[in-house]
Amino acid sequence: MGNILDIGSINIDYVYEVEHFVRPGETISSRSMSVFPGGKGLNQSVALARAGGRVWHAGRVGRDGLGMIKIMKDAGVNVELVDSSGSATGHAIIQVNASGENCIIIHPGANFELERDFIDNALRSFGEGDFLILQNEVSNMPYIINAASRKGLSIAFNLAPFGPEIKEYPLGLADILLVNEIEGGGVSGRHNTEEILDEMTKLFPSAAVVLTAGRDGAMYRGPGETRTLSHGIYDVPVVDTTAAGDTFTGFFISSVADGKPPAEALRIASIASSIAVSRKGASSSVPTLAETLKANLKYLGA
Ligand code: RIB
Repeated sequence: MGNILDIGSINIDYVYEVEHFVRPGETISSRSMSVFPGGKGLNQSVALARAGGRVWHAGRVGRDGLGMIKIMKDAGVNVELVDSSGSATGHAIIQVNASGENCIIIHPGANFELERDFIDNALRSFGEGDFLILQNEVSNMPYIINAASRKGLSIAFNLAPFGPEIKEYPLGLADILLVNEIEGGGVSGRHNTEEILDEMTKLFPSAAVVLTAGRDGAMYRGPGETRTLSHGIYDVPVVDTTAAGDTFTGFFISSVADGKPPAEALRIASIASSIAVSRKGASSSVPTLAETLKANLKYLGA
């Protein structure tokens, strides 16, 4: 299995359970408040490690984030490339409504303090045969992509959260692009799943594209291919969808790095993310590979 480097965000998540998302001008009380480790980067590193991947996380926190480093380390992530010299750890304010859906505000904090020297140092020991996994929550994204590509790493980029700046990134250098319908729609300008896949395959012919589409399951297109592989959903109670996408990404990439074919990677990632939505929290909801492989969930198809 190749080594996997995740240059990614680390957040403290403040999660509020609410009856409905707060509306403009409204003040509401939450039913409960919990503090969880989070950040798409941390969640994906934990998912990669729980899926059996050999993963190094590179990122930055403030002195208030030392607990986040310990959580990654305890999950089996190598944290030599995480430092605590940032101004303040990034945080997220997350509302989870009665249907388990979420909406999130991020304050980037130290995640936006990754300078070029930090990135060069993180990439120093990695090269051909290694994977780099990215999300859009840290500073200097184009620099990271260009530098990693020059070093010959395989780049997997989860285009989350989507912002207009993503269209200016050198996405053609990525080997795997992972999107949901909003991110895929944003980058392709198309709105249904097959059209998003068609357009992304045209725009980025050397990248495989993975699209997660909620109730419609997950889809995969190999580089330049027109055939879509699909995998449907499982019957689970939806408790909290936070980090479902991160769990999917971690298990998919770990499976690919382990040499599994895309259809099997889709299946494993779909089961793992279904388990994650049936639990509260972000990285705390991520299952292990053993739990995932022995889960006996009812398959509902796409
Ligand atoms: O994908 C879920 C994550 O998004 C949360 O953990 C939050 O920190 C934000 O980064």
